[in-house]
Amino acid sequence: MSDATALLSMQQLMLRYKTGKVALSGITMDISENSFVYLTGESGAGKSTLLQMFYGGLRPSSGKLSVQCVNMRTAQEGEIRMLRQRTGIIFQDHRLLFARTVFENIALPLRVQGWHIDKILPRVHKVLSFVGLGDRMWAYPAALSGGEQQRVAIARAIVTKSRVVLADEPTGNLDVETAQQIMDLLKAVNRSGSTVIMATHDLHLINEFPGRVITLHAGAMVADDL
Ligand SMILES: Nc1ncnc2c1ncn2[C@@H]1O[C@H](COP(=O)(O)OP(=O)(O)OP(=O)(O)O)[C@@H](O)[C@H]1O
Ligand SMILES: [Mg+2]
Repeated sequence: MSDATALLSMQQLMLRYKTGKVALSGITMDISENSFVYLTGESGAGKSTLLQMFYGGLRPSSGKLSVQCVNMRTAQEGEIRMLRQRTGIIFQDHRLLFARTVFENIALPLRVQGWHIDKILPRVHKVLSFVGLGDRMWAYPAALSGGEQQRVAIARAIVTKSRVVLADEPTGNLDVETAQQIMDLLKAVNRSGSTVIMATHDLHLINEFPGRVITLHAGAMVADDL
């Protein structure tokens, strides 16, 4: 049964890549506002594919997908661009712009939204302080550690107060202690009102930081520990 109030809703969602590979073979589930959701499952299970569908990086081959009231099968590109402005995305390889300062990296989504420069500076400083990097605003990403770069990526994802934050293996390359710091931050982001959906292999983190656990296997949902 589909819940009309769900923030994300899927019915028999299917994704076939151009190669013919069926990466998602019929996913049906709802994700409600303010939830913290783990996507787990073996390498190749379809976690990254599903996350990409949630911001329109990939469109459904068949079935239904609605994200923040946007029908992802029929939405025009302009509608998808607007949706991305309400979505924070954290990639495993963080994808920071290395030719730009930390400030510029985080200010970018605000500039896209047309914020006035007088408001951008305090907002960037506030989110950087939140991730513990208030004093690194004018550094370049290359001068930061992997964990610090990941925190900048989190700051960039939350700077516009995204309703949904998607994170693909955000702790994948980090040591245990740094991974726990990243989890503390993502939990705080969730408490402040964003729905967080995170792909991970790390069962220790899942046990330590509770959330809804959705397990994929070969493109199908095989468990939903709601
Ligand atoms: N661009 C692509 N073209 C064709 N097939 C792809 C593409 N990207 C992924 N796949 C395939 O789709 C399946 C799901 O891949 P996906 O990246 O979603 O897995 P994953 O669960 O994120 O795995 P991992 O834990 O290794 O990141 C895999 O079999 C993969 O080889
Ligand atoms: Mg992946």
